[in-house]
Amino acid sequence: MYIDLHSHILPGIDDGSRSLDESHTMLATYADLGFGTVFATPHVTVDDIDTQGDTADTVLAEVLEGIETDIKIIRAGELRLSPDVNTVADLLGNYTLGDSRYLLVDFASGVWPFYAEDALFQLQMLGYTPILAHPERYGWSSDQRSLAPDLVGRGVLLQVTLGSFVGTFGKAAQSLAIDLLKSGLVHTVATDAHGPGSRLKAAARGMEWLTQNIGADALDTLLIDQPLRILAGEDVTAFQPATRSRLAWIFSKWVRR
Ligand SMILES: [Fe+2]
Repeated sequence: MYIDLHSHILPGIDDGSRSLDESHTMLATYADLGFGTVFATPHVTVDDIDTQGDTADTVLAEVLEGIETDIKIIRAGELRLSPDVNTVADLLGNYTLGDSRYLLVDFASGVWPFYAEDALFQLQMLGYTPILAHPERYGWSSDQRSLAPDLVGRGVLLQVTLGSFVGTFGKAAQSLAIDLLKSGLVHTVATDAHGPGSRLKAAARGMEWLTQNIGADALDTLLIDQPLRILAGEDVTAFQPATRSRLAWIFSKWVRR
């Protein structure tokens, strides 16, 4: 069964699901798509990190109350990294993926802040391994694309949003998502679903795209094997597609546009 390491399935806690009904619909969709485990990763900031976990745990209990589902939901968090992350070092362990030292982090979409690399490095110095959410969506210029191999070389994991492969976040994000995959710089993929609507549907199309272009086994690697390695706290290297030539051809279509 697939494992989603990034979902805003908890209602009313951030800009994700807006109601219990929406969360329950998401669970049904996850089951249809073949997921067995979903990590609830509400947005967390340095300002609300002391309370967000408890709030999320309470909401998760409400989501599970009175329903039957085969989906296992595990609460973690998506930390909005800022330069003062070291001030909340003691609280970071409440938001890791399972019992691992892997922490899902992001910056505001469309912006790559000047302090981004410092903040990522700070987190590593605190003993955590950052999984950077949606690197394809920070509006990196072509000059900035070398950031990806630099970050990966320094031990940061990259997690591409499934919908990016099918253009949900625009052509630039699509092009970069495919380029990162082709270049062997993607460690995991995830839905980053914010409700039962377009983004979860886009994730389904992203899964189809990956199946068609790199194969069902590769999709299993990205959505099962890599997450299991992360959750086991193992060292995780980026996924290397076996069909690079096919991906190179797909990517060349975008370069020509
Ligand atoms: Fe997210």
